[in-house]
Amino acid sequence: PFDWYREMRAESPVRYDADRELWDVFRYEDVKRVLNTDERFSSDPATMPGFEEEIADSEGEPPPVFDTMLFADPPEHNRLRGVVEGFFQPRAIAEQADRIRELTEEYLDDIKGGEVDLVSEVAYPVPVDVIAMMLGVPTDDRAQFKRWSDTLIERPNAKTEAAMEEFQQRQQQTQAEMSQYFAELIEARRAEPQDDLITAIIEAEVDGHRLSEREMVGFCTLLLVAGNITTTNLITNAMRCFTAQPGLLDDLRTGDVKLSTAIEEALRYRSPVQALFRVTTESVELSGQEIPAGEGVVAWLGSANRDGDVFDRADEFVADRRPNQHLSFGHGTHYCLGAPLARLEAEIILSSLLERYEAIEPVEADLQPIRSSFIYGVEEYPIRVIE
Ligand code: HEM
Repeated sequence: PFDWYREMRAESPVRYDADRELWDVFRYEDVKRVLNTDERFSSDPATMPGFEEEIADSEGEPPPVFDTMLFADPPEHNRLRGVVEGFFQPRAIAEQADRIRELTEEYLDDIKGGEVDLVSEVAYPVPVDVIAMMLGVPTDDRAQFKRWSDTLIERPNAKTEAAMEEFQQRQQQTQAEMSQYFAELIEARRAEPQDDLITAIIEAEVDGHRLSEREMVGFCTLLLVAGNITTTNLITNAMRCFTAQPGLLDDLRTGDVKLSTAIEEALRYRSPVQALFRVTTESVELSGQEIPAGEGVVAWLGSANRDGDVFDRADEFVADRRPNQHLSFGHGTHYCLGAPLARLEAEIILSSLLERYEAIEPVEADLQPIRSSFIYGVEEYPIRVIE
């Protein structure tokens, strides 16, 4: 998409697309302003005419995931986020490091060397297991948990109406199964508290507020949706950046280039989340364009991150780039709650790979982009590893 972004930044940085009935925003400063101004650019889909009917399930209710911070504006947002924020601070997350490393090593032990798909062997399963472990999903249920995750991230095959209907039914079915599962897990933890996130969110209270049952279920689903495919793609995208530069893997091993700095650059250069959606609450002017109230706006993070007005050599991967004010985790009110966890996971998984394997090379292959309008990555990333 990067050539298209460049063209749009130059020629129509804020534009209305009549086909999609949406506004697109491409420049860094404009994207930042959209994300900064939530009183004008709402995250609540209920503000979009007709949207609530569209997402309603068979009982006419939106799935619980819409009752979460991601889809709420302040002050509601602050209540929903405040209750769980403490568990995602860098210090709290750092305590998970040993367990994440153990999990990673277990998956790497299963790799016998030779040719492997980085996505299915490591980059996908580790983040799902980490979330399951943090929440307190019993080990025996992890396989089921992964299957739900697979379904939730599935893209519709919109070729026929029947296929589309089948897809929607499967999504609803999964949402319903998950809701049921989490409701039972919450019940069990109420009776018998454990040292896990489910217990913590049951007990958490901010300014006298606790999460409702539905909000708790929604939050569990949100973690699964927001925290997995994104992290998977960060890991794979980063490895693609690293292997494309001769000598970089060695520089990362010796520390001549800091791994954490290179991960930030991978986040900028190949952002797992390319776009965010907002709805205008009143008419707003942006780069000379008047966007009326009640319109959908797509803020292109992936384009903002390549804006030459902000980044030198914006279209180059510069492994030791600093500073690096990318917008890959969003900006402002909804800044990614899981950013410290995503960074920690990426650092542990990538450093484990670098330490264990003497050589890591991409296998000549036709990389298939993920079929999604806003997630950026590849379906499979075959690599050859030598111990
Ligand atoms: C929000 C990206 C990993 C949980 C966001 C947003 C972005 C983002 C761009 C802003 C959404 C918006 O403004 O509408 C990413 C990327 C990740 C990642 C690129 C990995 C590389 C994670 C992980 C978790 C997580 C691991 C949790 C375990 C969340 C939550 C929000 C969020 C709960 C909503 C925050 C709010 O609405 O206040 N993420 N994310 N993310 N992310 Fe992440």
